[in-house]
This record gives sequence, structure tokens and C-alpha cells, in this order.
Amino acid sequence: MSILIKNGRVVTAESDFIADIYTEGEQIVAIGKDLSYKADKVIDATGKLVFPGGIDPHVHLDMPFMGTSSSDDYTTGTRAALHGGTTMVIDFILQTQGKSLYDALRTWQQKSQGKAIGDYSYHMAVTDFNDDVAKEVVQMIEDEGIISFKTFMAYKGALMIDDGQMVQLMKVVKENGGLVTVHATNGDMIDSLIAKHRSEGKLSPLYHYLSQPEVTEAEASGRFADMLHYTGCPGYIVHMTCEGALNAVRNATRRNQKVFVETCTQYLVLDASLYEKDFEGAKWVMSPPLREKKDQTALWSGINQGLVQVVGTDHCPFKWEQKLMGKDDFSKIPNGHPAIEHRMELLFTEGVNTGKISLNKYVEVTSTNAAKIFGMFPKKGTIAIGADADLVIFDPNKKHTISVDTHHMNVDYSAYEGWELTGKTETVLLRGKVAIEGEKCLLEAGYGQFVKRGKTSLVV
Ligand code: URP
Ligand code: ZN
Ligand code: ZN
Repeated sequence: MSILIKNGRVVTAESDFIADIYTEGEQIVAIGKDLSYKADKVIDATGKLVFPGGIDPHVHLDMPFMGTSSSDDYTTGTRAALHGGTTMVIDFILQTQGKSLYDALRTWQQKSQGKAIGDYSYHMAVTDFNDDVAKEVVQMIEDEGIISFKTFMAYKGALMIDDGQMVQLMKVVKENGGLVTVHATNGDMIDSLIAKHRSEGKLSPLYHYLSQPEVTEAEASGRFADMLHYTGCPGYIVHMTCEGALNAVRNATRRNQKVFVETCTQYLVLDASLYEKDFEGAKWVMSPPLREKKDQTALWSGINQGLVQVVGTDHCPFKWEQKLMGKDDFSKIPNGHPAIEHRMELLFTEGVNTGKISLNKYVEVTSTNAAKIFGMFPKKGTIAIGADADLVIFDPNKKHTISVDTHHMNVDYSAYEGWELTGKTETVLLRGKVAIEGEKCLLEAGYGQFVKRGKTSLVV
């Protein structure tokens, strides 16, 4: 199959020019003016933007969590992602405490193989570190192409590891060319605030927010940066929400340290006033919670200052019936919200159209930096000869409205119902095949491939 995309405005992290792109098989073969290849399909991209396929490095598909499972599986989740211009996701494998990493890997392979429509990889969440697991960490990097290891400084008794385990893990990961990622919040402080609010009968979603004040994230982010500095390990903080945590990373730069940071769309565009809507606030119960306007300002600035490199989603959808598990107690509301489909279009409207970020920065944070940090560049994350033909043809002027009635995620409400956006994904190519054409997904479950990743070459 060959495709010729004519006359699009091609935008990468570094460049912006009008050109044709010719793809053959799974890759980009030529980029230039007035290309004359005879292709199986020609797409006129005049007046459209052409981006590298989006990479969302923070999603939870079919994940057992808080007594239930996230409602999008690999088919519905990667299809919804493609509709929004995200051609690849990185999901989280969760080690079960007391069991091996390979045990968990096999479980996640069953969830994904033959089911994914879009491409995917895994982060391995280490929830129980010991000498046997240390050996498996090396095997994951060397044999499986899984180079990023997720840790939790919260969710005690289920996912959290202590600081001793964290430092030991960092040493092994550093020696073998991987990186450690973290959910950085102080689990003990949060648990004690949850217990206090519950004992006082304060049980609405608002108290989810009040149980995780900014200091819990700022403290843990600083502690994580300190442990990285001590071990020399490359590290990445997921779903950063607030000024205090960003300042912890900024402080680390004073000792010439580099800590990579991801924020998520919701922390840039939503704020904690949504928790005042009684139980409807459960739609936005996630950890860490939404913050204040001043935190949004800090995060947008952090993106432009190069302190925040990636915008993901932390897509972890639950249907309303599942959210109702916490109707009488906020601590039982499954944490997470549906967002995988809207990341690229929301960020375009709220970031590019408002002038908060440039088009090049938009490509950097939605695709290129994730590919670089997680060992996939230049196969993924750019538009270049030899790269995978993962391309988004985007209409910057098309207006549309987000709604549960039209989204493709397997969830029965929208966290962004009625949001009016300008800029829409029109056509998506994944490894040289048309995945999305208008409202239609043309690929089947099983097309999505696992992407084996290379060692990190990051300078920290
Ligand atoms: O609320 C969230 N974020 N749910 C998913 C699990 C996690 O902490 O990322
Ligand atoms: Zn988390
Ligand atoms: Zn998450």
C-alpha cells in the first residue's frame, strides 16, 4: 500500500513547511515539493496540518483498580485514541505484590494481543521489589524492550513501595539503561487525611480533593528527585498537577539535575471548583486531584520553560455505575477519568489557539518528547524518511463539540460534555494504513503492534 499526501502543512517539533509526503508499506519514503509518485491513494491536505501521530504515554486499559476495572479495553481504548489522533499509547502493567514481573507481563499480553487497533507499549509497575525482581528488571530491558519502571509513592498496601525499595530499584535500572517513573504523592499523609475526613463524616467527592493537598505532591516530587540525584538514575514524574511539585523539579535543576515531567490535559484545562458539584464531582475524582488556576498557569509556563516535556491523559475511565461505588464514601470512588480521545484536540484548542504554546511545542509535548524519553525516536514521534508512517491530518478550523453521544470511549458520560473545540483530527495513518477517515475507523482489532523500545540515551 502506498499513500501520497499532497500539499499539507507539515509540522514537527523543529520545523513547519508545506510539502507532500509519500508512504510505502509501513514507512515514510519521501518528503518534498510536488512529489510525482504513483500511489494507491492520494490525500489532498491543502489547508490542513500534518502532525506525527500522537503518543500518549499514560493510559490504563482494562486495569484492575479499586475493586473494579477501567472500562476501556485495548480495542475500545486504542480505537478512541486513533479517533483523536493518538496512534500509540503506553499502558501500565501492574505487578501483583508477591508475584513476578513476568507473571504480570503475561497477563497484560493476553489483554492486548489480537485486541489492540493502535500501537502500544508497556511501562512495568514494580509494586514489590526484591532480589528476584531485580533480575527480572534486567530481563525486561534486555529481552522485552520494556525500559520504563513505574513506581507508586501512594496507594499503600496495593501498589506503593517504600523509599528503600525505590532506591534499590533505581540502582538496577540506572545500571541497565532504563528509567524510573513515579506517581509522586505522599501516601501516608493522604491516608491519614482520608481517615480523618471519614471519621468526621465528610464523605463527598470534595473531600477526595481536600485529602490530597498540594504539599503531598510537592513533598513526594522533591523526595523522588533527591533519590534520583543520589542514584544517578533517569526519572520521570507522571501526571504532575501543581506549582509546588514543579518547583521541586525546578530546584533540582540548581544542582544540574534533569527530571522529566509529564502533566495531563485535565490539569491544564480543568480546576478543583468541579468538586463542588456534589456527587457529580465523582466524574473528576482522580489522583492527584484537579488543582487551582494558579497551578494551571504554572504548568503552561513549565511547558514553555522546558520543565514539562510531555502532556498525557492518565486515561482511566469508569462508567457511572462504577463511580457510584463511592456514592456514600469518596474513598471508594474509582480514581480516574476518560480522556484518551480528546488530548490532541483539547490541547490544540486550549493551547495553540489561545497562543499559550506554539505549534512546534504542541508536537513536542504530544508526540516527539515521549518518543525520545521512552526509547522510540525516530521510529515514532516525528515526520522523517524512514520513520513509521504514523500521521495525523488535522483541520485547524473545524469546529465541533465534545459529547458522550459522539465520543468513542467505552464510558457513559463525558468529563468534557459540551466543550466547544476548534481543530479536528480528519485522517489518521498508522504504519502506512488509513486508520481514521472522518468518523470511521478502518482498522480492525489486531492491527496494533507492541513496540519494543530501546535503552534510554537520556542525559540527566
Ligand atoms: O486517578 C488516577 N490517576 N487513576 C489511575 C491510577 C493512577 O494513579 O495513575
Ligand atoms: Zn498515578
Ligand atoms: Zn495513571
